[in-house]
Amino acid sequence: MQVIKYAFQQHGDDRGMLVALEEYKDIPFEIKRVYYMYDTKKDVHRGFNAHKSLEQILICIHGSCKVLLDNGTEKKIVSLEKPYEGLYIANNMWREMYDFSEDAVLMVLASEYYKEEDYIRDYNEFLRMVGVEK
Ligand code: TYD
Repeated sequence: MQVIKYAFQQHGDDRGMLVALEEYKDIPFEIKRVYYMYDTKKDVHRGFNAHKSLEQILICIHGSCKVLLDNGTEKKIVSLEKPYEGLYIANNMWREMYDFSEDAVLMVLASEYYKEEDYIRDYNEFLRMVGVEK
């Protein structure tokens, strides 16, 4: 399984750092939605879903967290701990987010508006969708 993690260009000077993200340039899709998670409680795991067509980029803009990616046959764990790192998650990929630091702010750039019909929240349904029978 290929994990696509971007290191965005950092614009830094003696005042501090800045990252700018433009759709189709730094982000490989049109950004239709941005959401973020913060104040995530200790030992919480979030996600537990896949998407039929949505693509996303996850950026832990403050603090750190881990993301488990699962394509149905293989699993990978990715740490997000820098505000200039972006994890690309394609459609048909199961994900779980966990190990949030107390100060973590996890921002997600999404290619589509929020649509519950695009979610797969049942792991066995996900396995069937990616062709791994269960
Ligand atoms: P949820 O899907 O449970 O988050 P996760 O799976 O990442 O842990 O979303 C939490 C709530 O927020 C749920 O009531 C739906 C709502 N929500 C929106 O209204 N718009 C959105 O873009 C997202 C991602 C969630």
